[in-house]
Amino acid sequence: MGFGPSVGASFARPPSSPVKLAQKARLSRAFNQGLPMSKATDSSTSPSTEASKQAAPSREASASVTPYGEGAKKAEVARMFDNIAGNYDFLNRFLSLGIDTLWRRKAVCQLAALQPKRILDVATGTGDLAIAALALEPKEVVGVDISREMLAKGREKLRRRRLDDRIRLEDGDSEHLPFADGHFDAVLCAYGVRNFGDLQAGLKEMRRVLRPAGRMVILEFSRPHAFPVKQLFGFYFRTILPSLGRLVSRDARAYDYLHESVAVFPEGQAFEAELKQAGFQRTTCIRLSFGISSIYIADA
Ligand SMILES: C[S@@+](CC[C@H](N)C(=O)[O-])C[C@H]1O[C@@H](n2cnc3c(N)ncnc32)[C@H](O)[C@@H]1O
Repeated sequence: MGFGPSVGASFARPPSSPVKLAQKARLSRAFNQGLPMSKATDSSTSPSTEASKQAAPSREASASVTPYGEGAKKAEVARMFDNIAGNYDFLNRFLSLGIDTLWRRKAVCQLAALQPKRILDVATGTGDLAIAALALEPKEVVGVDISREMLAKGREKLRRRRLDDRIRLEDGDSEHLPFADGHFDAVLCAYGVRNFGDLQAGLKEMRRVLRPAGRMVILEFSRPHAFPVKQLFGFYFRTILPSLGRLVSRDARAYDYLHESVAVFPEGQAFEAELKQAGFQRTTCIRLSFGISSIYIADA
């Protein structure tokens, strides 16, 4: 869905609304906790723009960025995706010029050698990754999500494409997956982990439901580093995409949250370290399209 900002947290704009001010204040607190040498100790005395300049992408910073800046991340994320479910698929294709479909296919390809029979798609949304996973000819594909509206749209799509007997979509939270230990050969997740309220809890649960020697593949936004892609996508992601998103989507905040959350989410080696901490043995990162998205492969 969309494209990644190019200069990470330093791309964050000065706050322009109470929601953004609250957001930046929380960011500031998170960064201060993670930076012992930080000069600022209290977000109320630290200009929020300064705080965002100090921001290093991290699990803590990611947990502090929420769609509306009012409450717990998980509940706000579910509410936001409920709000945008109606336009989600259209906006994905339109804003990414269809590239998101290719990225999902490439993610699924990372499971080809494993020939998984049981596949779980965490944060399945409207089920696009679960549908792509059918190319592997598995026996069972289950998608779980915390947004009822996203799942409802996904079920509609499966019925329309006569795939509802091949993929099951269920209510399910990444932090409490309703499956037995080691049930799945493979776990997939596209553009979900950045939205988790508790990243480590989610990754550990995904690890728990994987069988020994099973494989997890995660697709997530990252940040291009090279000139001029970095600058171009930073501009697109921070400026154009939220404006287009606001025009079409029913949620004015959703596409600001998108670039804000990408800016502070750990990428590359930092995300691989999160995977290792969650108990995965071997990890690999493949950067896609100049680093706009990345695929992470993690073996149990
Ligand atoms: C950007 S969408 C991605 C949907 C789909 N995977 C795709 O590739 O289009 C992110 C999804 O993650 C879901 N999500 C966020 N946190 C979750 C959690 N803790 N457990 C399960 N789903 C979650 C949201 O409800 C939303 O549907």
